[in-house]
Amino acid sequence: MPYQQQRMRRLRQHPILRDMVADHALRPEDFILPLFVRNGEDIRHPILSMPGHYQYSPDVLLEELSEWAAMGLRGILLFGVVDAADKDALGSHAHDPDNAVCTTLRMVKRAGLKLLLITDLCYCEYTDHGHCGPLIKPARGKRKSGRPPGAASAEIFDGVDNDATIARLAQQAVVHCEAGADVVAPSGMMDHAVASIRAGLDAAGFADRAIMGYSVKYASAYYGPFRDAAQSPPQFGDRRGYQMDFRRASKEALREAQLDVDEGADMVMIKPGMPYLDVLAQVSTAVSVPCAVYQVSGEYAMFKAAAQAGWLDEKAAVLEAMYAFKRAGAKAIISYYAADMLNWLSHP
Ligand code: PBG
Ligand code: ZN
Repeated sequence: MPYQQQRMRRLRQHPILRDMVADHALRPEDFILPLFVRNGEDIRHPILSMPGHYQYSPDVLLEELSEWAAMGLRGILLFGVVDAADKDALGSHAHDPDNAVCTTLRMVKRAGLKLLLITDLCYCEYTDHGHCGPLIKPARGKRKSGRPPGAASAEIFDGVDNDATIARLAQQAVVHCEAGADVVAPSGMMDHAVASIRAGLDAAGFADRAIMGYSVKYASAYYGPFRDAAQSPPQFGDRRGYQMDFRRASKEALREAQLDVDEGADMVMIKPGMPYLDVLAQVSTAVSVPCAVYQVSGEYAMFKAAAQAGWLDEKAAVLEAMYAFKRAGAKAIISYYAADMLNWLSHP
């Protein structure tokens, strides 16, 4: 057809026609709301770098969840916030069936709320050093004199012990499933975590529970507000020894995602979201399992800050980002805007 007859604007003239030819739509079940829960009662502690988000105690969170469930919320992703007194080098409190995450899982199940319960599996919230698993024991010669053996410090940080961590992750997964988790999501970027968790769950009689791998997770500055929220910053060093380097091309991401699929992941995730749409598009095309995307705390904080300053129309800007995730192939969107999205979708 000669170009003179092609007029792209024809399909843009009528609002109904625009709706009709839209390729993507957002539904309540597309969204997963991340939440922070800590031990105690009657706690609703604001997270300053994430306006509108709070650390909740299980009782308060249950009340909020019944309201959100009634509004149409479908999925939540739970993170534990841990008192310093409960932290140790191994992150043992993560395996305590009475920790805040497990308590919340049991309460939500008992209350009969129809929510998909996803838990984050990691140790950074539970270790005193803030890394995502037990540390590699330092070689003798490297230990500074006077420091108690085994004590973590900047000078003797050799990284996280991968295989010790994945063995423990299998136990953490079982503890969460016993408390009622429907899906577990390992976020520590340890090699073969999914295989270890799958084997542990199957052996414990939880062959029916799904694994959503944080398969493609970059070492990102956009996690800053989260680390305030979860009180989980590394006390020394950083996470670049396990999280991905954003200077590498998407081939690495494809391998990470495919490995998780081969190990038994039922879904894979790309994280962060907006700065990694290229990666999301390629991975979602390549793998045979559904892809989730995580619009992380720093992305949320940027929208909030601009909106509060009056520089951006929050709803319009956030909706646009959500459609970008859909176009790039996301089946599920983990977002701190999940509850707002329910409102915005029902009152467009
Ligand atoms: C813990 C974890 C992090 C996030 C999810 N799980 C922080 C990190 O890796 O440092 C970040 C989520 C966010 O920024 O919203 N492993
Ligand atoms: Zn972690």
